[in-house]
Amino acid sequence: MTLRTIDYGDRGQIAVVSDGMELALAAASAVLGLMTNAVQARGVGTIALSGGSTPKTMGMLFHGEPFHSAMPWGSLQIFWGDERWVPLNDPESNAGEAKRGYLDEMPIPAANIHPWPTSGDPDNAAGIYADTIRANVPGQPLPIFDLILLGMGDDGHTASLFPGTSALSITDRITAPNPVEKLNTTRLTFTAPLINAARSVIFLAGSAGKAERLHEVLDGPLETDRLPSQLIRPTSGELRWIIDEAAAANLDRK
Ligand code: 6PG
Repeated sequence: MTLRTIDYGDRGQIAVVSDGMELALAAASAVLGLMTNAVQARGVGTIALSGGSTPKTMGMLFHGEPFHSAMPWGSLQIFWGDERWVPLNDPESNAGEAKRGYLDEMPIPAANIHPWPTSGDPDNAAGIYADTIRANVPGQPLPIFDLILLGMGDDGHTASLFPGTSALSITDRITAPNPVEKLNTTRLTFTAPLINAARSVIFLAGSAGKAERLHEVLDGPLETDRLPSQLIRPTSGELRWIIDEAAAANLDRK
């Protein structure tokens, strides 16, 4: 249950819940509401999921009611906002994790679930994924997702837009490979323009470990190279955050 909502203007509407379980429940409810509306309005619900821990708990809830029966599963087109450069069967794979955790047991045609390609050349893989998005997500010049779910890392990253990395400044592609030096790897990620074209963007952030960074992201000056989560400012869609009390602890407007 939402304890309170805080208006952070163009940095978003913040819903504060009590703990991680309530956060997952609020997220699942938001997904259900937005996907139901999208399918009623346009016949399809397009969603990009995030990696990380909160969506994992949210996914468990989809096995139960009301979510299992009420979600328009067969009309969803499911993507991921970022991915690690590992095969689908690797425990690190965002898509693999969600498929094993719940998606494979939901009544969704396999053709509607779109994991990133993660073999060959990362630049080519990002290009293939961009084509898959354009083929399934309506919108010109940018595809418009009904919902993009995001997390915020303790360092302020979102999707795989990490501080100081090359993908932060990309404006002419909707997806990109992003070398992340500190992780000694390359990630695949949506770029900020694609995320900002969405109808709804919802950040999920829980736990005390995020409190100080969240304070910087929401209350501090814009420093998008150091705090990439600040790049997310939907052009005409809505921006929401669902956070728990622990993550809200340092906010000026808490
Ligand atoms: C990933 C992500 C990433 C994640 C954040 C927050 O693949 O790791 O998509 O951006 O959402 O790191 O993760 P938590 O929710 O686990 O804190």
